[in-house]
Amino acid sequence: MTKPLALGIIGHPIGHTLSPVMHKTAAKSHGIDLTYDAFDIKPENLESEIARLRDLPLDGFNVTVPHKVAVMEYMDELTGDARLIGAVNTVVNQDGRLIGHNTDAYGFITSVTKNGDVDLANKSVFVYGAGGAAMAVCVGLAQAKAAKIVIANRTEDKATKLAERIFQAFGQVQTEAVGYDSNKLVETISTADIIVNTTSIGLEGGDENQTLPGADNFSGSLLVDIVYKPLETEFLKSASAKDIKTLDGLWMLIHQGDQAFWLWTKKRFPVDLIRVTLIEELG
Ligand code: ATR
Repeated sequence: MTKPLALGIIGHPIGHTLSPVMHKTAAKSHGIDLTYDAFDIKPENLESEIARLRDLPLDGFNVTVPHKVAVMEYMDELTGDARLIGAVNTVVNQDGRLIGHNTDAYGFITSVTKNGDVDLANKSVFVYGAGGAAMAVCVGLAQAKAAKIVIANRTEDKATKLAERIFQAFGQVQTEAVGYDSNKLVETISTADIIVNTTSIGLEGGDENQTLPGADNFSGSLLVDIVYKPLETEFLKSASAKDIKTLDGLWMLIHQGDQAFWLWTKKRFPVDLIRVTLIEELG
């Protein structure tokens, strides 16, 4: 009998992650014998716990908050996307060498092209937020050859830094940061083709009742939220009411997971089954 593929996820806290159900469902549909465990690891124990997981051995693992950046230092190798994004969300244990990947930019691009049915090439995109998720989204936008990325963040300095970083890394894309409550923001949104929320505004149990400044002025073709709980955020509802196409955050989550599963198993997610399962899981 062959040994099951041993996978997992590390984070802190780790209680509500959807990753185990996603990967177990996919494995079952392919007849792959797999274990997928959630490891709650405190930041101060990260180094010793990574050494333990390497020796178990775990064949691979996902990385979530708060370890996505800190874990980079314990990798034997980083892929181009992990370096560009400055974070790791998927680790492959290749004969004892830990390879740090980041599948978030792939997840974002795939969700927009496949599920939003929009080609990002030459588009003008407005992004709310400048945290870790925004970094992955902007890398994805630049890789998919968007023409222009405008970023607005509550803490303006972070938007400026992100815009500079993306421009330095890609060159061909025009980037700009605008003030969070500025007239420039309203002006830019009204001419954007796509807008993306990468902040936690709209997230259940968090900043659910706050709104994104200027979003009402959007009249482009696609509005994307990377929040998936609730599935239909207030931000998405505002666009549905105006007949603008919307894309919820569950698609990006599914496609980043699909790419991780591919790296570990060379098999693809049964995407529709995973989506139905996750919607049930979210209640
Ligand atoms: P993630 O990895 O999910 O991107 P993060 O790096 O902590 O998490 O980034 C969270 C993002 O949501 C940031 O852009 C943050 O803005 P600040 O940089 O000003 O903190 C944004 N955000 C969180 N709560 C917000 C709120 N109430 N209003 C506006 N922006 C908010």
